[in-house]
Order: sequence, then structure tokens, then C-alpha cells
Amino acid sequence: MKSTPDVLAARLLAWYREDHRPLPWRLTRDPYRIWVSEIMLQQTRVEAVIPHYKTFLRRYPTLASLAQASEEDVLATWAGLGYYRRARMLHDASKRVVSDRGGEWPRSYSQMRALPGVGDYTAAAVASIAFDEPRPALDGNALRVLSRMADERRDIGTSATRRALGGVAKDLMDAVPRGSRGDFTQALIELGAVVCVPRAPRCERCPWNVACSGLAAGSAPHLPVKGARSVPRRVNLSVALAVRDELVLMRQRPSDASVMPRFWELPMATGDASALHPLGFPSCVEGEELGSFAHSITNTRYTVRVHLAEFEGGLTPDQRWVSMREIPGLPLSTISLKALRLARESGVSAA
Ligand code: ADE
Repeated sequence: MKSTPDVLAARLLAWYREDHRPLPWRLTRDPYRIWVSEIMLQQTRVEAVIPHYKTFLRRYPTLASLAQASEEDVLATWAGLGYYRRARMLHDASKRVVSDRGGEWPRSYSQMRALPGVGDYTAAAVASIAFDEPRPALDGNALRVLSRMADERRDIGTSATRRALGGVAKDLMDAVPRGSRGDFTQALIELGAVVCVPRAPRCERCPWNVACSGLAAGSAPHLPVKGARSVPRRVNLSVALAVRDELVLMRQRPSDASVMPRFWELPMATGDASALHPLGFPSCVEGEELGSFAHSITNTRYTVRVHLAEFEGGLTPDQRWVSMREIPGLPLSTISLKALRLARESGVSAA
């Protein structure tokens, strides 16, 4: 870098303060609200988070209200955001703060790290934004910016590279004046989200362009370097939508399921329509589906085909006919939510 950390920090702050996206979690210093936003923003895009963030905080405006809620209620409120482990951790952490700390949110990075689901990134983000602690929070956006600034060409996935970029970030953060550390965290994320974007960075608009080694070397658009990424797995899923007297047949996942235990879902099976036959839907035929959609979970790309189905089996203990009024109160897998939406849009009554 050609400029000193204090010059760079000041330039970034000035750029951020002149204009940034007015995101709802940027209007508060309440650690609880910031924490909720940062957990939601892991693995989920800003636009998708905004409505969920508002709904969640309307339902649980304080940490105490979240701690008092039932797990089922929390999961139902989280519905549609995916990666439900985050919701469980959020809930567990809120209960822990109430039981161990009398409801007072920890005020330092180190204390936050001890809570379930609060990793390095989240603790640094909340500590800097809510408490002005000089901890750089390195999410994917911030790491992209720093790897370009430093023309860092090693694999971003290795701990050596992360440590090196962590050092660059710490030098910058230490040059940020008191009272501005939270804005610096937000500004670095903002820069990565709107200017220093993945394939075609808008370097002409960047407050750091004169100091950017990646821009000078022409490597910026190709950074960061991501090591061997695995090829996504492709899976076909068939879903049965059985409707009777305004009720929909659903089943509850087992308590010991490794993903989404106790969640409700439509009956479904991997494979084509014939995979639904042994579940009590012998009339489902491939190619005669109501519609289909794509859904990704981590490294798996699902093609989901929804079949309007006649149920000809007997109910198993995990199955129940559920009225549509009940559904918003149940924790539901995202695939099932999407399938029900597709059915509604196709005019299926009761869906
Ligand atoms: N991604 C992660 N944290 C964020 C934040 N505070 N604002 C916008 N995007 C983010």
C-alpha cells in the first residue's frame, strides 16, 4: 500500500459518510439488533435479509423476548431464511445471556466469542459497531477488498492468507479514531458490496484506488484467489402436494435428523416421480408436474418438481393433514415454502 493507514481510514470513512445504503441495522447501536442482523447476513443477501430482519424484530424486539420464545416459534419466524442452525444458535445464545448474565449483552469481543454461534466475524462486527472496539470484522466483502489492496495472490481459504489480511485490517482499524470504528466496519463491507464487487470492480469510484496494489498490477478483478472449489452436486427432488378439504398433507422431520430436526415439510423423495410411489402416491407421473423450481443448499443444487398428488396410503405417525391457517406458525423447510407458493400461484385451492 502506498498510503498510510490513517490516510486510508480517513478516506474510507469520508466516502462512507457521504453516501451509503440506508440499511435498517445501520440505524441502531443496540448490540442485540446488530447481532441479529449479522447472523442473518451470514450466507444471505442483504435484500433477502431486510424483510426478515424487520419481521423478526417486530416479533422479538428485545433479547429477553427472544429468550422467552419457544424454539418452534423462533424457527417459524425464521422461515424462508434458510440455514436454520443460525436461528437455533441465536435462540440458545439469547437464553444463555439471560441465564448467565442477567440479560445484559456482553460488551467485549472476548465475552461475545464465548456465546453459541458467535464466531470471530460476528463478535468483531458487533464489538466494533455497538461498542466501538477496534476489531476488524472480515466477511467475504472485506476480504475481497483487502486481498485486492494488498495484491494478495495466495488462496483466500488458507489460514496463512487470512492471518496476513487480518494484519492489514488491524493496522487500518488501529488508525481509525475513537467513535468511528463501527462506521469503519460498515464502510469496508459497503465498499466490497457496491464498488469492489466480484468480477468487475468499479475502481474509478473507489476511495482507495490510488493505493490499491491489485489495481496497479491489473490483478484486482481476479482476486481473491479461491482454491479448488468443488463441483456442485445436482439432485432431483419430487414433492407431493396432496390436498383434501382445504387441508394439506405434511410430515414432521425426526428429532434426530441432522438437518432441520422437527421441521414440517411436504412429503418428498429424491429421484423422479416414481420415488413418490412408495410414499402413498402411486399416480404421480414424471412430466406431469404442477411446476418446478431450483433450490441450492450449500454445495447441492436441487431441481424440485411439485406433483399434485392423490394420497392413497395410510397416515404414518409423522404425518398429519394440516390446515393452511396453521402453516405460518409451523417451522417449515424452504423447499416446502417454495412448493406451497408455487401451488398457490398455480391456483391450487388450500395452498
Ligand atoms: N454483510 C454482513 N454484514 C453486513 C452489514 N452490516 N451491512 C451490510 N452487509 C453486510
